[in-house]
Amino acid sequence: MGEDSVVGCAVDSSGQASVKRYYNPAQYNEIHSNVGEGLQNQIAKIEEGHLFCTFEQDDHEINKIHVQFQKSYYLLLSRAGSVSPDGLSQHDTQDKVVSPQAVHISENIILGASANNWLVQLHGGLMVIAWLLCASTGMFTARYFKHTHTDFMPLGKAFWFALHVFCMAATAFLTICGAILIIIKKKGFELKDWHPILGCVVIGLAILQVAIALFRPHPNTPMRPIFNWVHWGIGNTAHIVGIVCIFLAWDLSLADLKRFGDESLWLWIMMAVVLFHVLMHIVMSIHTLWADKQLDSSNKKRALFPGPMKPNGMSDEAPGTGFRTFMLALYLLVMAAGAIALVVLVFWPKSTKEEEAPTS
Ligand code: HEM
Ligand code: HEM
Repeated sequence: MGEDSVVGCAVDSSGQASVKRYYNPAQYNEIHSNVGEGLQNQIAKIEEGHLFCTFEQDDHEINKIHVQFQKSYYLLLSRAGSVSPDGLSQHDTQDKVVSPQAVHISENIILGASANNWLVQLHGGLMVIAWLLCASTGMFTARYFKHTHTDFMPLGKAFWFALHVFCMAATAFLTICGAILIIIKKKGFELKDWHPILGCVVIGLAILQVAIALFRPHPNTPMRPIFNWVHWGIGNTAHIVGIVCIFLAWDLSLADLKRFGDESLWLWIMMAVVLFHVLMHIVMSIHTLWADKQLDSSNKKRALFPGPMKPNGMSDEAPGTGFRTFMLALYLLVMAAGAIALVVLVFWPKSTKEEEAPTS
């Protein structure tokens, strides 16, 4: 929340019910200096212990918040604990509902209080599996597995290559499905926030990356090093921006990821997964330096430089196959656990309290 126009239906300390104009400058609430701003025909009453409010609204402007009812808006309904002369207290994370879609308030509509958000949930779930699990694993194998299991050639392809292509094709496929679902939900693109803007960048880069890879020059041709650098650059950019998108999803009211006991649970899991990912890359880089040292490798410091990991100059298996295989299994297991935890949060049923549509 933030920069929202608010109508408060409240009972003050003298037991008097009223409908007043409030607003949220940011994550807090203030009463408006003109409590009837943009409101007409306000009626507030308490009957048999229940608070009832009716009111009409006109277009209005509060500070920089300009509400025009020919536009559509998401409606947020929340129940706050108490009301002071300055404003409404913050509501509990459980005590709120968001309309399933942006609505024209001037239309005659009946809104379900419990948002049927399965399109958003599927979008989030697919994107988490794509970028936290598939992309991370595919890029891990492309970097550290060029000299591992060299005698195992699924479908006649090198082990690292087969795994990379499988994981990255899955990433691109799930990303496109996730994009289609959210476009259906939002009925088009609405690039008003960082998550949608960066999300479009990720989707664009994923498609571009696959296109570039399909037309890659043959190894040992003069254009191949250029492909390696471009593919490495776009791939890592897409991955980092994708992870940022998953972080940013935490703040989207439609995703409702703050509804758990610990509001920041989503961020804690993400931070743990990113920390583990960084640690694994550090360990694997040190291991690559060690493995190259054992060989008469032409480039012993390749793991220290940014850019695509060059082959070590030998065609054989590098020492430490067992260790690398163990590390890949560990990486896959922990990333899968992190992704599953996030997917569970995305799909976690909303509390029945919300479905009762509290009045405030
Ligand atoms: C790499 C990961 C992700 C990418 C690339 C991505 C991409 C996008 C894009 C492009 C949009 C804009 C769609 C439009 O306006 O038509 C969007 C919106 C949205 N995404 Fe994601 N997304 C990602 C992860 C997630 C996750 C994990 C969630 C959690 C549930 C999520 C929830 C949402 C929601 C709720 C919206 C609508 C925001 C609004 O109200 O405008 N996304 N996403
Ligand atoms: C979303 C799609 C993709 C992403 C994000 C991606 C990402 C990456 C990254 C980051 C690397 C460099 C690994 C490193 O050394 O650090 C890489 C290497 C590579 N990728 Fe992909 N990739 C994708 C799809 C594909 C596809 C579809 C193919 C083949 C059909 C492919 C073929 C290759 C090859 C051949 C290399 C090795 C380049 C070299 O020799 O350094 N990639 N990929």
